[in-house]
Amino acid sequence: MGTPQADPNGPLLDVSITSLRQQCEDWSSALAFERDELAVLAGLLRNKSSIATIDRVIDELIAMIAELQARQQDVVHVRSLLDEVLTDGTMDDRPAREAFHRTAGPVTSAMEHETALKHRIMDLVRSERSGIGHVVLQAIQERRSVRSYRSDPVPMDLIERIIDAGRAAPSALDRQPWRFHVTDDRSLIRDMDKAISEAMHALPPLPHAMQRSGRTDTIFHGAPVVVFLSAPENDPWADLDMGACAQNMMLAAHALGLSTCPVGLGRFVAHTRFRSLLRSGPGEEVKLALVIGIGAEHPAMPARKRDNLFRIGAPAA
Ligand SMILES: Cc1cc2nc3c(=O)[nH]c(=O)nc-3n(C[C@H](O)[C@H](O)[C@H](O)COP(=O)(O)O)c2cc1C
Repeated sequence: MGTPQADPNGPLLDVSITSLRQQCEDWSSALAFERDELAVLAGLLRNKSSIATIDRVIDELIAMIAELQARQQDVVHVRSLLDEVLTDGTMDDRPAREAFHRTAGPVTSAMEHETALKHRIMDLVRSERSGIGHVVLQAIQERRSVRSYRSDPVPMDLIERIIDAGRAAPSALDRQPWRFHVTDDRSLIRDMDKAISEAMHALPPLPHAMQRSGRTDTIFHGAPVVVFLSAPENDPWADLDMGACAQNMMLAAHALGLSTCPVGLGRFVAHTRFRSLLRSGPGEEVKLALVIGIGAEHPAMPARKRDNLFRIGAPAA
C-alpha cells in the first residue's frame, strides 16, 4: 500500500509519484509537439513531388504520427492513474507505477524513432533544396547578354511570366517602382532602334557594343521583343530596385530557354518621338530596356574581375 502517512518513506514516495506525474506531463507535450511537427513536415513533403523515396517517407510519417498518437493515449491513461494516487494518499500505488514503467519503454523508443525519421526528412528536404539551389546557381553563371536573335516570335504568356519574375524582385521600402512597357512590333522596334541611334549622334563615342560594323540594329540587336523598364526619376533607390527587377527577369527568361540583353541605351528613347508611346508620365523615366528572344549566338562569359573580395573583421572561429 502506498499510504504516505503510514510509510516511513511516505514523503519520498509522494515526491516520486509527483515526479512521475511531471514526467507524464513532459512526455505528453513532447509527443503532441512532435506529432504536430511531423504533420507539418508530411504536408510539406506531399507538396514537393511524387518521388518514390518521398512517398515511402510519407508512409512512414503517417505510421509514426499514429504511433505517437497511441503513445499519447497510454500517457494520458498513466497520468490519470498517478493523479488518483496523488489525490487519494491511501491508495495502492503499485498499479500506477507498473503502468508507468510499461509505458516508459514504448514512449522512449517512439521518440527515438521519431527523431531518426525527422533527420531523414530534413536530409531529404535539404537535398531537394540543394537541387533547386544548384539550378539557380547554374542559371546565374550561364546567363549571357545576347546580341543576335532568331526571328521567331516569343509567345506573350512567356513575356508575362518574365515580367512576373521582375515583379517578385525586392525594392526599397517595398515601393515596387517598376513599370513595364512591352512591344513585339518588329517595325516599331526597328524604327525605335534607328531613332535612338540618330538621337545619340550628338552624344560622346558609342560603347563597344554599338561599334559593330554592318549592323543597323545596334540598340536592340534585332530581338523580337523589347521591354522598357521605367520608374520615378526622383526615387533615390529606383536604380537599385530596377537592377534587381531586371536581373530577375533575365534569369526567368534564361529558365524559359530565352535569351536577353539589358540595354541601358534604351533609355535614350526619351530623346525620340517614341517617348509618348511609353505610358510613363512626367517625373517617370526609362531606366533600362531588356531585349528578349531566341538567341542566335552563345557568347562565353566575359572574364570576371576577381580582385574585389575584401574580408573585414575577425574570422569566425
Ligand atoms: C545597366 C546595364 C546597361 C547595359 N547596356 C547595354 C547596352 O546598351 N547595349 C548592350 O549591348 N549591352 C548592354 N549591357 C550588357 C553588358 O555589356 C554586359 O552585361 C556585360 O558586357 C557582361 O556580359 P554578360 O551580361 O554576358 O555577363 C548593359 C548591362 C547593364 C547591367
